[in-house]
Amino acid sequence: MSAPAAICLIALPDLAATQRLAAAVAALARPGDAILLDGPLGAGKTAFARAFLRAAAGDPALEVPSPTFTLVQSYETRLGPVHHFDLWRLDGPSALPELGWDEARDDIVLVEWPDRLGALRPPDALTIALAPAEAQPPPAQAKPPSEQAQPLSAQAQAPSGQAQVPSGQAHPPSGQGQPPSAQALPSSAQAKPPSGQAQPLSAGQDARHATLTGWPDRIGSLP
Ligand SMILES: Nc1ncnc2c1ncn2[C@@H]1O[C@H](COP(=O)(O)OP(=O)(O)OP(=O)(O)O)[C@@H](O)[C@H]1O
Ligand SMILES: [Mg+2]
Repeated sequence: MSAPAAICLIALPDLAATQRLAAAVAALARPGDAILLDGPLGAGKTAFARAFLRAAAGDPALEVPSPTFTLVQSYETRLGPVHHFDLWRLDGPSALPELGWDEARDDIVLVEWPDRLGALRPPDALTIALAPAEAQPPPAQAKPPSEQAQPLSAQAQAPSGQAQVPSGQAHPPSGQGQPPSAQALPSSAQAKPPSGQAQPLSAGQDARHATLTGWPDRIGSLP
C-alpha cells in the first residue's frame, strides 16, 4: 500500500543525541505535519517531544510534562500550535474527535502510542520508531515491587508534579492502573509489560536508536 520504506536509522547513544534529532526534525516541520513516536515504555518518546517543543518554541526551559492524563497538551511555538498527544490511555480511535484531533491536524501533532490512532493514522506522517537500549538503567532488581513500580520515565517526567502524578499510575502496564475500558485498547496494550521487565536484559549492550520512516521530500535534510 502506501507504507513508505524505512528511510534512515540514527543511533541515539545518549539523551543529547535524542535532543539533537528532535531539534533537527523541528527545523523541518511545518503546520499539518504529524510526527508519530513509536516505541515501548521508556523508549524516549516524551524526551523527543520535549526537545522538539523546546526547539520549536525557542525556549530551552519550556515546561513539557508528559500528557499521560490529559492525553493532549498544546503549545504555541514559532511553528504555530503544536499538540503533544499521549494516547496510551485512549479508549480507541473513536475517542479522538473529543480530543480535538481533527482541528489539531491543521497544526503540528506529536503522538506517543500512535498505534492507538487506528485508521486515523496519517499516511503522510513522519514515524520515528525509538528503540531503547537492550540493557536499561536502572536495573530491574532496583525497582520496587510491581504494585508501586514506576516506569523508567518516572525520573524524567513531571518535574513539578511528580508528587501527585506518579507515572506508575500514569502508565499502568503493571496492571493496577489498567483502564477499565481495556477492551477498547489494542491487544498490544494489554500485553505491555512493566518497563523494568520489558526485556530480558542482555549484558551491557546499549543500542538506542531511531528508525525514521516517511517525509521522503525532507528526510535527506536531516544531519
Ligand atoms: N537517547 C537516550 N539515551 C539515554 N537516555 C534516554 C535517551 N532518550 C531518552 N532517555 C531517557 O529515557 C527515559 C525514558 O524516556 P521517556 O520518558 O521519554 O520515555 P517514553 O518513551 O516517553 O516512556 P513512556 O512510554 O513511559 O511514555 C528518560 O529518563 C529519558 O531521559
Ligand atoms: Mg512518554
